[in-house]
Amino acid sequence: MTSNDDHHLPPRPMKDSQSQMAEVVLPNDANPLGNLLGGRLMHLIDIAGALAAHRHSRSYVVTASMDHIDFLAPVHIGDLLILKSSVNRAFTSSMEIGVKCWVENYIAATTRHVGSAYLTFVAVDQNGHHHPVPHVIPETPDEKRRYEDAGRRRELRKHEQERRRNKIG
Ligand SMILES: CC(C)(COP(=O)(O)OP(=O)(O)OC[C@H]1O[C@@H](n2cnc3c(N)ncnc32)[C@H](O)[C@@H]1OP(=O)(O)O)[C@@H](O)C(=O)NCCC(=O)NCCS
Repeated sequence: MTSNDDHHLPPRPMKDSQSQMAEVVLPNDANPLGNLLGGRLMHLIDIAGALAAHRHSRSYVVTASMDHIDFLAPVHIGDLLILKSSVNRAFTSSMEIGVKCWVENYIAATTRHVGSAYLTFVAVDQNGHHHPVPHVIPETPDEKRRYEDAGRRRELRKHEQERRRNKIG
């Protein structure tokens, strides 16, 4: 496979991958207390993340991992859930995508942050073989910070994978 440093795909601005999903929470998505199920939120995060990964790579993608996730506040039946996603950085065939979830109170015109996650998606062809993706161009100070942070998180992930491999082996 070609390395990210020597492939010739034109780099793409981070903002071009930005995606948004909106979902009204229905009874079928909730536990007996009327709160959105954590697994359902993770499912929506996966889909919102895939949108940004597809847009950046213009390719099929698979989810390789989802980092730690905190459910910061309950989401209730009837709430309007907003999920925003963007690529933070692309490596060789993988991309870190950040997803942030909000509940929008459309009566009071307020929003509440209910959870965030970082996911790694890998670009694959129709046979499931991974292939290179374009570099990301961060433009604003906030995008540059996210880009740098994503590099640090990739190193941490690699260390953690290595540690688990040694523990299992
Ligand atoms: C993800 C997958 C394509 C990686 O394939 P692989 O042959 O093991 O690939 P490699 O070890 O060579 O790694 C390829 C890339 O994936 C990344 N990767 C692999 N496993 C990873 C993990 N657990 N977390 C984060 N990144 C991972 C590598 O860092 C590498 O990134 P880079 O090319 O940017 O350096 C493969 O394991 C797979 O298909 N898994 C199943 C995915 C799936 O079904 N997801 C749920 C449904 S969408």
